[in-house]
Amino acid sequence: MIISVIGCGYLGAVHAVAMASLGHQVIGVDVDGEKVARLSAGRAPFFEPGLDEFLTQVMATGRLTFSTDMAQIHPAEVHFVAVGTPQSATGAADLQYVDAAVDAALPHVVAGSLFVGKSTVPVGTADRLATAISPSGARVAWNPEFLREGHAIQDTLRPDRIVYGVGTGDEESVRMLDAVYADALAHGVPRMVTDLRTAELVKVAANAFLATKISFINAMAEVAETVDADVVALADAIGQDARIGRRFLDAGVGFGGGCLPKDLRAFIARSEELGSGEATSFLREVDRINSRRRQRVVDVLAEELGDLNGARIAVLGIAFKPESDDVRDSPALEVVRRLVEAGAHVTATDPRAIASARRAHPELTVDYRESAEETMRDADAVVLLTEWVQFRDLDPRAARALVRRALLVDGRNALDATVWADAGWRVRGLGRAAVGPGR
Ligand code: UGA
Repeated sequence: MIISVIGCGYLGAVHAVAMASLGHQVIGVDVDGEKVARLSAGRAPFFEPGLDEFLTQVMATGRLTFSTDMAQIHPAEVHFVAVGTPQSATGAADLQYVDAAVDAALPHVVAGSLFVGKSTVPVGTADRLATAISPSGARVAWNPEFLREGHAIQDTLRPDRIVYGVGTGDEESVRMLDAVYADALAHGVPRMVTDLRTAELVKVAANAFLATKISFINAMAEVAETVDADVVALADAIGQDARIGRRFLDAGVGFGGGCLPKDLRAFIARSEELGSGEATSFLREVDRINSRRRQRVVDVLAEELGDLNGARIAVLGIAFKPESDDVRDSPALEVVRRLVEAGAHVTATDPRAIASARRAHPELTVDYRESAEETMRDADAVVLLTEWVQFRDLDPRAARALVRRALLVDGRNALDATVWADAGWRVRGLGRAAVGPGR
């Protein structure tokens, strides 16, 4: 098929490459000339494992091009809309990029073509867009995306499920989407067809559920902290119940990134707008629990060190999660900000996210270092905030020799506390009792 992908950010760029890899002819369009130039040169504008290689390989087939010129979408039968829906000042989703993308595309689409929304939007957006689009003879479907950063290629090619939201009786859209996703469907990926509103809700409900699961275990961590119980053992035990499941029960500094926090707030705002605010009011608590974990890391450090003013704190991990250079709403950066505000001298490192952190937060007075070793030198405390494998693999004895004081705060409960304690470290996890030498 001939496909256009409008918006070549994380979602759009990966989708465009994946679709072209399956044999479709794909034109990716973005208003950002720099992004288009990078993608055209076979380089992703962000770090995603394997994406540069995949991009180069697919570009060589001639089936994938990128442009800033919206007129290029003209031959496409299917137009995926994959632009961002950032958080506005009120917490609601800002739809200006979705509206602008559709407005810019409309003069170039042919009758019978299909707009497919992939952006995460407030329920009701697709219905509104359908009214604007229908005079062109094009149709609208909603096909939410569930990819995770760090696993984006695999999640796009072999998702857990594919959801099509379509208008009443719109068999043609289903047929066209089946042609787009023929490969995944042939491999048994489940496909669900719903109305437009349900498809929009599936996406926000999935992210709200994941956020709730993380905040649930972090709430248990808060309780565990008051009685010196162990939240990791608790998660292992309840996770054995197949109805609960162990995944997304890792207590720590909480969730961040460009999706979970903003989608949660947008869902709350939209429900309130629709008069169903009571139904989602618990999500405010999910958000509050999450914010409290960031402060908890700072409090643990203050408990251990007394005064943070002048303390040298080494931060391992800046990205919102491993295998990513994304620092949007990163819990690690928020902790860093609070430490700096408390007067600490912060050194920090991350395998991928230093450049993006500098770009996004030039105001933060952080001493970024290239290696964990350089970061930890002469530190009064080491804080793990993103569980990169490089940090999991650190040798606690070698690290012990570098620091001024062997205090480890494991903000992801990712390191083996006993092994670190045996090497002479005092270890504080989140939702776990302290181990190792006393204060
Ligand atoms: C999330 C969803 O998992 C995807 O399904 C969805 O498509 C995507 O948002 C989106 O809406 O675009 P992502 O933001 O890549 O994906 O990250 P996750 O893997 O969900 O992690 C989110 C945050 O939760 C990270 O900060 C992570 O460290 C944290 N987390 C995750 C925990 O604190 N504990 C856990 O047990 C799991």
